[in-house]
Amino acid sequence: MGGVTVNPANPAAAGAHGAPSEDAAARADRAAGPGLKGSDRPRGTARASAPAHFDDPVLDSMARRRSISSVGPGAPSDEELKELLAAVTPVADHKALRPWRLITLRGDDRLRLGEALDEASGTQREPGEINRKPLRSDLLIAVVAKLTEHPKVPAWEQLATAAGAAHLLELALWQAGWGVMWRSGLATDAEPVRAAHGLAADEQLLGWLYVGSVDDYFKKKLAQSSRPPLDPEQFLSRFGE
Ligand SMILES: Cc1cc2nc3c(=O)[nH]c(=O)nc-3n(C[C@H](O)[C@H](O)[C@H](O)COP(=O)(O)O)c2cc1C
Repeated sequence: MGGVTVNPANPAAAGAHGAPSEDAAARADRAAGPGLKGSDRPRGTARASAPAHFDDPVLDSMARRRSISSVGPGAPSDEELKELLAAVTPVADHKALRPWRLITLRGDDRLRLGEALDEASGTQREPGEINRKPLRSDLLIAVVAKLTEHPKVPAWEQLATAAGAAHLLELALWQAGWGVMWRSGLATDAEPVRAAHGLAADEQLLGWLYVGSVDDYFKKKLAQSSRPPLDPEQFLSRFGE
């Protein structure tokens, strides 16, 4: 696998692939912010007031991922998606049930999704008006969980695998330089929407990854981001405490 094009629009992708003129220490300093020497910190640690930085490119990309709420034009081709999927298919999967699949929506597919969402929510529009929400990106990837009866793998574990695959794909797309946001809504799994996607009775729609380019405004915002890493104390405790 080496054919995936990295979109340099994404600062995270540029960092993760190692910008040619910037070594790991320089990246650490940049992450630490003006006047702060990130490279002075022990390897793999993060300042409380700066975005997490890791020398390891995979961890660094994960720590820097952000949802991009309004992506620009352009999207990965099916071929690019298939290459990225090779990094997603190893998702943890009890009994290897493969309880997920993805459906791409491009072009007029998105108009049909808008109509289905309107039908599901009972929205009436003036003639010529359309639901523009699915047009927020050139590519939507519907995330579908396929749930089967299994004596040892309850439905929630299969949903966990499907959600895990979707998040891994978010990360893979981000690492490849694309902006992504996972969106859903109250009508996500409503019958008209399910029918538009051709879902079988044992399938459940978990929302859509909206995928597109990252424009200059977001590139600047990302580069200046000072969102502090969440405190790990909130997420980790000792058994019995
Ligand atoms: C299953 C799922 C559905 C989501 N649906 C929406 C949505 O419809 N609208 C929205 O604003 N955020 C939605 N989010 C949250 C965003 O994808 C995103 O995680 C959130 O805005 C926080 O941004 P961050 O990923 O940069 O931390 C959803 C997340 C998940 C996991």
